[in-house]
Amino acid sequence: MTSLSLKDVSKSYGSVEVLRNIDLEIQEGELIVFVGPSGCGKSTLLRMIAGLETITGGTLDIDGQVVNDVSSAQRGIAMVFQSYALYPHMTVYDNMAFALKLAGKSAAEIDKAVRSAAETLQLAHLLDRLPKALSGGQRQRVAIGRSIVRDPKVFLFDEPLSNLDAALRVATRIEIAQLKESMPQSTMIYVTHDQVEAMTLASRIVVLHGGNIEQVGAPLELYERPANTFVAQFIGSPAMNMVDATVTETGEQTSVRMPDGGHATVPIASKDSDLNKPVKLGVRPEDLSITDSDDYLVSAKLSIVEALGETTVLYFDPREGDDAFIAKLPGIHKAEKGRELRLVAPADKLHLFDENGVSFLYR
Ligand SMILES: Nc1ncnc2c1ncn2[C@@H]1O[C@H](COP(=O)(O)OP(=O)(O)OP(=O)(O)O)[C@@H](O)[C@H]1O
Ligand SMILES: [Mg+2]
Repeated sequence: MTSLSLKDVSKSYGSVEVLRNIDLEIQEGELIVFVGPSGCGKSTLLRMIAGLETITGGTLDIDGQVVNDVSSAQRGIAMVFQSYALYPHMTVYDNMAFALKLAGKSAAEIDKAVRSAAETLQLAHLLDRLPKALSGGQRQRVAIGRSIVRDPKVFLFDEPLSNLDAALRVATRIEIAQLKESMPQSTMIYVTHDQVEAMTLASRIVVLHGGNIEQVGAPLELYERPANTFVAQFIGSPAMNMVDATVTETGEQTSVRMPDGGHATVPIASKDSDLNKPVKLGVRPEDLSITDSDDYLVSAKLSIVEALGETTVLYFDPREGDDAFIAKLPGIHKAEKGRELRLVAPADKLHLFDENGVSFLYR
């Protein structure tokens, strides 16, 4: 049984505050993924949980016990880093056995733990090799093996796959998913820059931005119901399009009009005070399709076509101050550059954000 609870946790280096008001409850058996732009505080938060950084404010408790002042070694947490730093002169077996030897375990106990971890990680046939005779993916698995043998309460991973090439990343990602399945009770926190890793591995994703938590939720919850424009544009690739719009009708449903004549009625409630207010209408590239009708969301000039076979990505000229507008259509489309096209999306796929970037669903 290992749950973690962070209450109003903050971190400052001197006068620079890099994390603030972090509230997070993690249940036993969860695989939590931290995502966010570079420098937002993901590694710092992970290192605070590991006990490698002091906590400036707030409390961290593990299984109901405040551990702010408990040393890293005593927290029962194992951390796997991007650089796996194996001992080069030791075999895979000895690398995995090292911490247990230091802890004074018997040879029989060590052997059992190492062989069982090697089995889980498909390293059993490599136990006599030196790290230099392993692929990057195999080395990263040994690094994970070193943490498994210690039977920690919590596993922390800081971008463990980012040194691997694309194919190996995919293979190792699937292995991590299987590893998690084979250890349903273990609690894991995983930091990544990779959207696909976040979406596929996480039970819940924590989106960090500038030292704050923007939103916590299951992967598809963040995709379907982002709380604000930041999360809306961070989760999903290409990012959600944002269009300036004005509210023309409020109530159970909200109607908006765009400057180019586009309009929409969205099944999201609004307040009387929203009438005539400027808002952002959000629409994902993959929810758009082309239409001839006068009933359209956006009309824009096509500037670039990327035919990927599986999908066709259309880039439209941005309006002043806006990002390029993108549509992602399934399959192959013969679209002519320079043409003005009209685009629509199902009403239930549209998002509305107020002037502060807050979703109408979360106000
Ligand atoms: N020892 C330190 N002293 C001062 N500032 C630090 C220190 N360590 C980290 N920071 C700052 O804290 C912020 C968060 O850093 P952190 O390494 O947690 O970011 P990150 O989200 O892991 O980024 P990345 O995705 O690039 O790994 C950064 O602005 C960084 O410059
Ligand atoms: Mg980092």
